[in-house]
Amino acid sequence: MNPGLTRRFENLLHQWAGQWFPGSRQGELLRALQRSAERAGFGSDLNGFLNELETRPDERILNLVLNEILVNETYFFRDVGLWEGLEQEILPDILERQAKSRNLRIWSAGCSTGEEPYSLAMLLRALVPRIEDWTLHLLATDLSEKALERARMAVYGKRALRELDRKRWGACFQTTGSTVRLTDSIRQMVHFKRQNLSHEDFPDPLTNRMDLILCRNVLIYLDRDLVERVITRFGECLRPQGWLVLAPTEVPLDPPPSLLLTRLGNGTVLLRRLSSDASSAPAVPTLRTARAQTRRPSPLPLPPPVQTPILPAPAPRIAPLPPPPPAPDPTDLLAQARQAADRGELVSALTLITECVEADPISASGWLVLALVQEEMDLLQDALDSLRRALYLDPELAVGHLQMARVQGRCGDAGVMRSLANFHKSIEGVPSEALLPEGAGITVGEARHLAEILERTWSRMEALS
Ligand SMILES: C[S@@+](CC[C@H](N)C(=O)[O-])C[C@H]1O[C@@H](n2cnc3c(N)ncnc32)[C@H](O)[C@@H]1O
Repeated sequence: MNPGLTRRFENLLHQWAGQWFPGSRQGELLRALQRSAERAGFGSDLNGFLNELETRPDERILNLVLNEILVNETYFFRDVGLWEGLEQEILPDILERQAKSRNLRIWSAGCSTGEEPYSLAMLLRALVPRIEDWTLHLLATDLSEKALERARMAVYGKRALRELDRKRWGACFQTTGSTVRLTDSIRQMVHFKRQNLSHEDFPDPLTNRMDLILCRNVLIYLDRDLVERVITRFGECLRPQGWLVLAPTEVPLDPPPSLLLTRLGNGTVLLRRLSSDASSAPAVPTLRTARAQTRRPSPLPLPPPVQTPILPAPAPRIAPLPPPPPAPDPTDLLAQARQAADRGELVSALTLITECVEADPISASGWLVLALVQEEMDLLQDALDSLRRALYLDPELAVGHLQMARVQGRCGDAGVMRSLANFHKSIEGVPSEALLPEGAGITVGEARHLAEILERTWSRMEALS
């Protein structure tokens, strides 16, 4: 295979949608190219297909390609800790501040098939007894037309409901055979719209003056420079004191000056737009100092006004939050999670390791252990997601590549060979008797042997199919 072909494809995806592909996704890229060429009627003529894409990509082919490459993994109430924080701190704060105007503006950016904005709609219905009396603008956007179509249908299977507390939320769904459909009263609360974040055309009237923006597990797929600009723009879309929620690994250590790193009582780290009424500007705390804070940060000045005038921030009407409990030590959490996993106590291990990556989202070891636990629990797509984060943080993590190959093999994902190649590359020249870093005591030689077994098994499976 000519690597120039995948490079051309990668450039196009970068140009159209700001996509970024680390080494671990190169195999995926090639498969998406092959599948889209076939579906577009080019068979195995990848060069001809790329010529077409580079000269006159029509909307149909463009959608076909994006549908192949965009990762749409999501489910209801994904990341339990965050939803606790939303229910107990963030939404009550917003509802309190907006109680007078009864105007609520929320945006789920990169909403995929709708589970995230619908989870928000369900939570709002539970928190606000007469939500009909409010002017609610619950916007959900995504680049994938196919994902949005499914979101509008609001029909879901088991996978999407795996974290759902059926007792609490059962009334929001109607069962139709082996699937469920959200009731109209929830569906109608969400307004779906196609949007490409890489066009950087926000704030606009639909996206400005937001009280809350969720953009989780989306930035991880985008080019670094674009990510910085998108976060700055999200800041411009927020009302003063509005909240920006990203996935733990996506929270920047040095956010733009208009946004402050903030930690909720349960440890969830997020960003908050500064209030406009501050007069002095203390240094913006970094993630580390934000974690160490025991009180809510003092307000800092606003950046220059954006397109629409922003109302002066009202004096906070809610009681200040009690000081958060001392931050859990991620190293302790990691060790406890490993011990729980070794004892086979997977639910405790999952809780501990989730807490660990929330407290320290840039710990590659944390994501690696999370992936192990998820794999044990057969949450294979989640495990792949966690491994991508681990390898994004530490591309040399040999054990991560090996684990990735194993999970890919279990999913029937042909990325196995690429991951194995990455594994071999990361231990090139390392003597066999050396211990594999993070390898729970196995040597590099033993790891090489495991890789060979995986390689042989995969080749045999391919020959059979
Ligand atoms: C893994 S899903 C995240 C879904 C949900 N936010 C969650 O955390 O469960 C990532 C979504 O980002 C969308 N996406 C990727 N690049 C995008 C872009 N440039 N503009 C808008 N959406 C994009 C994909 O289509 C996909 O649906």
